[in-house]
Amino acid sequence: MSIKTVATTAFDDQKPGTSGLRKRTPDFLRPHYVENFIQSTFDSLEGFAGKTLVVGGDGRYGNRQAIQTIVKMAAANGFGKVLVGQGGWLSTPAASCVIRKYGAFGGFVLSASHNPGGPNADFGIKYNIGNGGPAPEKVTEAIYAHSKTITEYKITDAADIDLDRCGNSQIGNTVVEVIDPVNDYAELMKQLFDFEAIRALFKSGFRMRFDAMHAITGPYAKVIIEQQLGAPVGTVINGIPSEDFNNGHPDPNLTYAEELVAEMFSANAPDFGAASDGDGDRNMILGNNFFVTPSDSLALIAANAKCAPGYQNITGIARSMPTSAASDRVAAALGLECFETPTGWKFFGNLMDADRVTLCGEESFGTGSNHVREKDGLWAVLFWLNILAARKESVEAIVREHWAKYGRNFYSRHDYEGVDSAGANTLMSDLEAKMPALIGTALNGMTIAYADNFSYTDPIDGSVSTKQGLRIGFEDGSRIVFRLSGTGTQGATLRLYVERFEADSAQHVQDTQAALANLIQTADDVAGIKRHTGRTEPTVIT
Ligand code: G1P
Ligand code: ZN
Repeated sequence: MSIKTVATTAFDDQKPGTSGLRKRTPDFLRPHYVENFIQSTFDSLEGFAGKTLVVGGDGRYGNRQAIQTIVKMAAANGFGKVLVGQGGWLSTPAASCVIRKYGAFGGFVLSASHNPGGPNADFGIKYNIGNGGPAPEKVTEAIYAHSKTITEYKITDAADIDLDRCGNSQIGNTVVEVIDPVNDYAELMKQLFDFEAIRALFKSGFRMRFDAMHAITGPYAKVIIEQQLGAPVGTVINGIPSEDFNNGHPDPNLTYAEELVAEMFSANAPDFGAASDGDGDRNMILGNNFFVTPSDSLALIAANAKCAPGYQNITGIARSMPTSAASDRVAAALGLECFETPTGWKFFGNLMDADRVTLCGEESFGTGSNHVREKDGLWAVLFWLNILAARKESVEAIVREHWAKYGRNFYSRHDYEGVDSAGANTLMSDLEAKMPALIGTALNGMTIAYADNFSYTDPIDGSVSTKQGLRIGFEDGSRIVFRLSGTGTQGATLRLYVERFEADSAQHVQDTQAALANLIQTADDVAGIKRHTGRTEPTVIT
């Protein structure tokens, strides 16, 4: 085995987005593309000699090959140990768990999350730091800076490691250990939730369906939900990870989790339904003929946290800016601190490390806690199971009771996917330019209280993140928010977020889109969505 130094030419497009470097698979397959990004990451870090690196991914096309490259480069760059998930598998939250548990220096997660996989779909690489969370902006910016000037990378000429067998091997001085991808994570879940109560729930005939969407959570859900919690075999569907997610779109929402949604909205629906995404960090929660919005799910988990043994003392709640304010109401009632951060899980890390928050969530089907430093799909599902086991009421009854107590934040997100980038950018810049003049004026009968481009100052390290989304807030507390996606790979994706609070429980039965119709119309009136995107309808409504 020897270490080679390979000459390379920089790429100009290796800027990590909301969640790591994400591109079309053919872009990643360009010679030296993966190697450049990995070396740029190592070159931005200090003090990892002899330390441990964790590597795993969601099993999509390109996963195994990228892992072999990373392992050989980690050895050449002086890591003491590399922990790799068997089969190349580690869900995003499991990778975070493993980094924390074994005190690793950091880790790479290979995934493009909920984006489709395959030779003509998407791939991604995300670097996580020693706390188990996504690298903060100062690290991703340093990686990008290095990637623009890189001239060489280091790699060993060792043979490929056997990814399918657990155990140790050696590349030079570096130990490579292939570990079971599920064990450590399942162990952690057992410490947080009342497994006995959930087992009793399943014994009583409670029916559940979990849709792994042919992605990474299949192996985790089978072990935890079927084997350890005793749900009948078959509770987990689409449970074998496939390289192209069975040609599907592994995003757990009402549009893409079709099979689950059809069953949960049928006459003989199970009591509880859930799904997770490509890399296992997102979740969707459904009851019998009932959908729980992710924003409500965060609020409900917070309000019912005491049902779970691991959450007897929560310190605070954080949500991303576009997420509804439902959880703020719970925080106020419980006397907890609450925080509004920019979109992306990386903004929660400092708050959790400083023990200012225990629970975090995003409207984009992401919920989690300080047990790891990523959002965690299965964790949310287990939390709901624990609540259902403790309260012995239906999902719908629990949610309706919550609205009656706290009021309901009607909420919806409209995505215009793959629109022309120039049109989307013009929409945003035109809207931002006219914002100062909008304040104090009325639109469709609603007076605008504020209009700005959201900026955030991290309360722990003082770092400032600007241009995080255009917000228009009305005097009655309603708001509309516009953002361009930072995770898309084709054209631009415009996201419109709409929220209206309703205290009167007699109004809570309204259909969400109907309850928000005036705001949705106002959004088009003020921003010219149809005019700038050429679209008459959103691609996805959640
Ligand atoms: C999207 C979601 C965001 C989430 C991210 C990664 O980012 O909106 O909440 O953290 O995916 O899962 P976006 O495409 O909006 O930049
Ligand atoms: Zn994901």
